[in-house]
Amino acid sequence: MAERPVIRMEGVAKSFPSPDGGSLEALRVGRWEVEAGAQTALTGDSGSGKTTLLHLLAGVILPDRGRVEVLGTDLASLPEAGRDRFRGASVGLVFQSLNLFPHLDAEENLLAAPLLAGRKAPGDAERARSLLARVGLEGRARHRPGQMSLGEQQRVAIARALMNRPPLLLCDEPTGSLDGRRRDEVVALLREMAAENGATLLVVTHDDAVVAAFPSRLAIRDLAGGAAS
Ligand SMILES: Nc1ncnc2c1ncn2[C@@H]1O[C@H](COP(=O)(O)OP(=O)(O)OP(=O)(O)O)[C@@H](O)[C@H]1O
Ligand SMILES: [Mg+2]
Repeated sequence: MAERPVIRMEGVAKSFPSPDGGSLEALRVGRWEVEAGAQTALTGDSGSGKTTLLHLLAGVILPDRGRVEVLGTDLASLPEAGRDRFRGASVGLVFQSLNLFPHLDAEENLLAAPLLAGRKAPGDAERARSLLARVGLEGRARHRPGQMSLGEQQRVAIARALMNRPPLLLCDEPTGSLDGRRRDEVVALLREMAAENGATLLVVTHDDAVVAAFPSRLAIRDLAGGAAS
């Protein structure tokens, strides 16, 4: 029997209130499934709903209609606190706006991931240092976000998303502030870590070099009509 898809969306629509008092449809998805272990680059014009899609998959927001199932869980069936727990334990999310804790240093930002998920373990500090080293930030463990470059902060956010070995890794433009060499390193690291953990990886990007590095590619406009995977 085929494994249950990691992502399943059906008949989803999400609108936001617009400043003129009306509403603006940010995203529409017909039917979409992603199999476990897939590594997919998601592309689309600015404003086409990519961030909205990742926020729906992470349970940060809920759809106006339709179903969003992640790892077999219908996110709308969980209360807000349950969605927070689900995200903490199962989803590694690199926000487009990074969302690092400004008063915590890089290592503490990584340690916040197991702490918030209620999964604090003795090896956490060592894992945090090793992940920081893997993104080339061994010299920045004690730096707070405001004391780091944007590219460094981006790598802290990526390392933090990997901290809990999540089965689903969602990254919103994770290489936008990196030079070509760092970009290639970070993409390789994300793919390697996802494969190591048997995780499913979905990366939003505008960068053709990042798209080219992924075995599976998806344009967000292709989700609106009907079936896609
Ligand atoms: N909180 C919000 N309130 C009102 N409108 C919103 C909100 N979030 C998104 N939108 C609107 O929804 C649309 C899709 O936004 P979204 O952020 O998903 O696009 P995107 O594809 O991620 O774009 P980009 O490539 O620029 O990051 C946009 O037109 C935006 O104006
Ligand atoms: Mg976006």
